[in-house]
Amino acid sequence: MEKRLQSLKQEVESIINGVSTLQEIDDIRVKYLGKKGSLTEISKQMRDISPDDRPRFGQLVNETKTAITELIEKRMERLKEQIKEQQLKDEIIDISLPGRMISTGGLHPITETMDFLKDIFIEMGFDVAEGPEVEFTKYNFDALNIPDTHPSRDLQDTFYILENVVLRTHTSPVQARYMEKNKPPFRMICAGKVYRNDYDISHTPMFHQMEGLMVGENISFANLKAILEQFVTKVFGKTKVRFRPHFFPFTEPSAEMDVECVICKGKGCRVCKHSGWLEIMGCGMVDPEVLKNVGYNPEEVSGFAFGMGIERITMLRYGIDDLRAFFENNMRFLKQFK
Ligand code: PHE
Repeated sequence: MEKRLQSLKQEVESIINGVSTLQEIDDIRVKYLGKKGSLTEISKQMRDISPDDRPRFGQLVNETKTAITELIEKRMERLKEQIKEQQLKDEIIDISLPGRMISTGGLHPITETMDFLKDIFIEMGFDVAEGPEVEFTKYNFDALNIPDTHPSRDLQDTFYILENVVLRTHTSPVQARYMEKNKPPFRMICAGKVYRNDYDISHTPMFHQMEGLMVGENISFANLKAILEQFVTKVFGKTKVRFRPHFFPFTEPSAEMDVECVICKGKGCRVCKHSGWLEIMGCGMVDPEVLKNVGYNPEEVSGFAFGMGIERITMLRYGIDDLRAFFENNMRFLKQFK
């Protein structure tokens, strides 16, 4: 009997280190210590043993049971540790592997330029205003002293929605709306989309403009020149500018402002049509009629206004020679501005 118990313990000792799962250990536990296990079977033989030997036998069974239990528990603990170690090894993150880049978008060069130009004026104390793209003829034309007979009222240039509603043909109606709501002195700019029924290599039916207006006592053409020259310097660096007389129904006198060609530095090239100059904006002193239309007294206040095409300035900033590039949404073109 003693031998049998001894060999049970040895059996367990010999197989216990070979197991690799918790289930296998549990199987061993059931096999040796369970209700129908080997040890239980042996202890049943207690009946056949003489009463004198029983205490010794009982003690031996208990010792064996404790020894086997200990063996199993030790192995179980060790196995749990091994499983955990393996898990940690498997789950290790290799931080030396380069991450996947998230590709981000960028601003369209027109938007980027618009923000850039706006910031220059914001720095000079200009307020930023907005107005609707679908506009009443009252603001797009009448308030700006554009009479019914003016060619820009012609159906050829303007997209009419209703007889008195158009897609704004310039940002100037925002001037009129702003003056209605605000009292001088003020300085404001406005930028956005404008629409004209014009489509060829150098015109698109939708394009962008930026408009500026400054009204107050004793505002003069000298103020206009000072502000615009400072603006141009910020955009293109130190360049020569010139003002040529022009006509706009809402300014008097009116001018167009040219900068020395940024491509050839005034020597003459294809871009400036060999003149050495590039026209970049229209401007002038606000016509007294326009001031009257919004309820100002032209005897008390005066002002200047200017308007420019954003596409044109973007092309000059980046040396883009085809207007269509802005509207084709070619990713290879757009990605260059990120
Ligand atoms: N609105 C004019 C245009 O679209 C530009 C301009 C604005 C001219 C303000 C003078 C003053 O051509």
